[in-house]
Amino acid sequence: MGVLGASGQLGRCLVRAITDAEDVELAFAATRAEIDLCDTGRIGSWLDGFADPADVVVNAAAYTKVDACETESERAYETNALAPAGWARELSSRGIRFFHVSTDYVFPGDGDRPYREEDATEPRTVYGASKRAGEIAVLGTDPTALVIRTSWVFGPGRNFVVAILDQASRRRRGEAEGPLRVVNDQHGAPTHAADLAEALLALARRGRDGAEPVRGLLHLRNAGETTWFDFAREILDRAGYPEIGIEPVPTSAFETAATRPAYSLLSCRRAADLGIEMRDWREALAAYLEGPDRPAALIPGVVEDGSGQDRDLPTRAPVCGAASR
Ligand SMILES: NC(=O)c1ccc[n+]([C@@H]2O[C@H](COP(=O)([O-])OP(=O)(O)OC[C@H]3O[C@@H](n4cnc5c(N)ncnc54)[C@H](OP(=O)(O)O)[C@@H]3O)[C@@H](O)[C@H]2O)c1
Repeated sequence: MGVLGASGQLGRCLVRAITDAEDVELAFAATRAEIDLCDTGRIGSWLDGFADPADVVVNAAAYTKVDACETESERAYETNALAPAGWARELSSRGIRFFHVSTDYVFPGDGDRPYREEDATEPRTVYGASKRAGEIAVLGTDPTALVIRTSWVFGPGRNFVVAILDQASRRRRGEAEGPLRVVNDQHGAPTHAADLAEALLALARRGRDGAEPVRGLLHLRNAGETTWFDFAREILDRAGYPEIGIEPVPTSAFETAATRPAYSLLSCRRAADLGIEMRDWREALAAYLEGPDRPAALIPGVVEDGSGQDRDLPTRAPVCGAASR
């Protein structure tokens, strides 16, 4: 298997899962330094450089800064739509299966039951629109490709869990006061990047086991549902910060360039029918907080405030605002 976006949250988990699996070989783990996703004219010669070609390539690379996409739409479309289409074209011409990762933000967010794969999309942000354009371009180029939509990803890197724990540890050190403020009117489901990586491996194996390879659209996330507010409470309680209060606030409390969907729960019925079911998000969160990717704030003797992680929040900033009272 080959991984594009190998230094991102999902990319890192994929590389580790493939390396740990006895029956799957890592053909390549490409970061931006190896090949820029958008350098589509180079894909062919770059792939030719590998003695053992990949059977499946997963694209975990994307321009994921939701607010920045509003003002950088050219970069968003180039990274999230044009480039994946270029990869789909080159990979399918070589008989290599392509898994491309997309988002719950392709939906408008005004639903009241989990979105199914076949439901109408209506992205309300440039990020969502660019990701939807990517889905169409990839499947239009290679109808055998698999496009996996996921939501609220946490793994190794900057994410909501890290942001909450940074804010909590600042309060414990007396650098900030008052409760955290977290929106309680956006509903969805968190996804542990490591769990998603394992599910993608299971999907890659299907083609080899003689089962029909899965193609088209597929939703994958951890089971259960929540709001950012309840997610934050669970993080604090599980990570040893029960004394830190949270004030529930409406989405309107934070001014953001991109409007987040109020409801973006993905239905995973198709995945369940394929025998792929991910554990409940609470269980996944507990594993994350104790595992190798746990936020720096939880690692004794490292950085108590997680300040070593200097990247912007990838996709969901700011759902947590500091109350600087
Ligand atoms: N994070 C979420 O909450 C969330 C929710 C729903 C769906 N998704 C989707 O899930 C997938 C994985 O997300 P993630 O959270 O793992 O993302 P992430 O941590 O932001 O990682 C994305 C990776 O893509 C790389 N990348 C961006 N542009 C590139 C380019 N032109 N060439 C090469 N590499 C490039 C980035 O490299 P640099 O660090 O060098 O920029 C980064 O390592 C994405 O498709 C995303 O849209 C994410």
